[in-house]
Parts: sequence; structure tokens; C-alpha cells
Amino acid sequence: MRIDIITLFPEVFTPLDVSIIKKAKEKSIVEIKIWNLRDFSKDKHKKVDDKPYGGGKGMVLKCQPIFDAVEKIKSENPKSKVILTSPTGILFDHKIAKKLSEEKGLIIICGHYEGVDERVRKIVDYEISIGDYILTGGELPAMVIVDSIVRLLPGVLPEEAPIYDSFYNYLFDWPCYTRPQNFKGLKVPEILLSGNHKEIERWRRNKAIERTKEKRPDLYEKYLKEGGKDDIKKS
Ligand SMILES: C[S@@+](CC[C@H](N)C(=O)[O-])C[C@H]1O[C@@H](n2cnc3c(N)ncnc32)[C@H](O)[C@@H]1O
Repeated sequence: MRIDIITLFPEVFTPLDVSIIKKAKEKSIVEIKIWNLRDFSKDKHKKVDDKPYGGGKGMVLKCQPIFDAVEKIKSENPKSKVILTSPTGILFDHKIAKKLSEEKGLIIICGHYEGVDERVRKIVDYEISIGDYILTGGELPAMVIVDSIVRLLPGVLPEEAPIYDSFYNYLFDWPCYTRPQNFKGLKVPEILLSGNHKEIERWRRNKAIERTKEKRPDLYEKYLKEGGKDDIKKS
């Protein structure tokens, strides 16, 4: 998969050069290209923003450099879908990440200042928000979106790993423990030391159900609606 990011701040994307995302790039599962919006400015001072019509606060990112950047990237990868990071977009979740991970390519536009000229929305396929709060720019949302999508690409994680992550089937992940068995009197549940893999699996599934039901009843309802069981009984 190819992902292109259009930004005024290419230097902030170093988190995409470590750990799992770095390995996915090395294995050529994903190619991530960062484009500097300023390189597409036709202004002699490389300006990409201007004052809003009608007056008022802040600066607005102009159409021209954004349209030209998207056109250039699409000439290299015509099937790419365009994402605008925006507080007014649909709320990003696992379902959207899964859908986006099945696209041929993605172009992510990072807004800044007051945001982008409204006409940019004409060339956008998905407008995505990562939560009901305002960030300075679209760079962090772009990295959140890329990180969550890349994890879902085949070959990035061991085959079954994402299935047991929180949200995959609406449920949270189960509780995890590692050595030592007893830390300051806090003990690891006996069942995990039993060596009975069938029972451990059942305990984990039930814990996942229990904590989802308690912490996120909305997700638990969705899990039930999709045919999930309330309790994984002994077979
Ligand atoms: C300071 S914000 C603009 C806020 C805009 N004036 C408003 O109130 O809706 C600048 C840019 O950051 C990005 N951004 C800020 N908050 C975001 C969020 N919750 N989700 C996605 N993108 C966000 C968008 O790209 C946005 O254009």
C-alpha cells in the first residue's frame, strides 16, 4: 500500500520511522511519502495560506497548492483515495481503519491554522476527525490514522495478532501479566500458571467480555448485536 501525506511540517513525521511501521516499510508492505505543501506553492515567497474572505481570525490554507499536490500524487498512484484531517469529519474508529487498509492508496491532507479553503472538500473522499477536540494541525491525526491502518496490513503483525486487539470484534483485549508471579503482593491469576490452554483461552475471552461490558456498554451492545456471546461456557 502507498500512503502520501501532504503537510507544512514534514519534519514531525519521525514516529513513522520506528518500530512496527519502520519494519513494514522495510518489508515493502507500505510506502509512505511525505510531501511539503510549500513545494507546490506558485507564490514567489512560497506562501500557502491567506486571510479569510469576510474577515476574521487566522489564516486559511489555499486551494491551489493542495489541488496541485493531490494531482501530482494521483498521477503516480491514480487509485489513491484522499483523506482530509478535520474536526468536522467522521469519528475515526477500528471499522474505518479496516476499510481504509483495504484501499490501494491514501493521500492524507494535514490542515493547519484555521484549516483549509472549503473548496478542498471537492477533491476529498473521506473527511476524518480523531476526536472531539482541536489540535494545532493535521499531522498528529495523520500519524494516528497511518499507524492504525499499517498494523492491519497483511504481513505487518503475526497473522492472528490484530484479531485479539481491542476493538477488532468490538471487545477490549484481555488482561496481560508478565514476570514476576508476585510483585509487591500483587499476584498473577492462578489460571494463567495452570498450563491448561483451553481454560486460559476461556478465562481470557470472559475477561475481555467482562471489562468491555463494564467500561464500554456501547461496544458491548454492538458485540452482542453481531452475535457475540455473553459468557464463554466450559465445553
Ligand atoms: C486548528 S485546526 C482548525 C480548527 C478549525 N478552525 C475548527 O474550529 O474547526 C487546524 C487543523 O488541524 C487538524 N485538526 C485539528 N483537530 C483535529 C481533529 N480533532 N481531528 C482531525 N484533524 C484535526 C485539521 O487538519 C485542521 O484543519
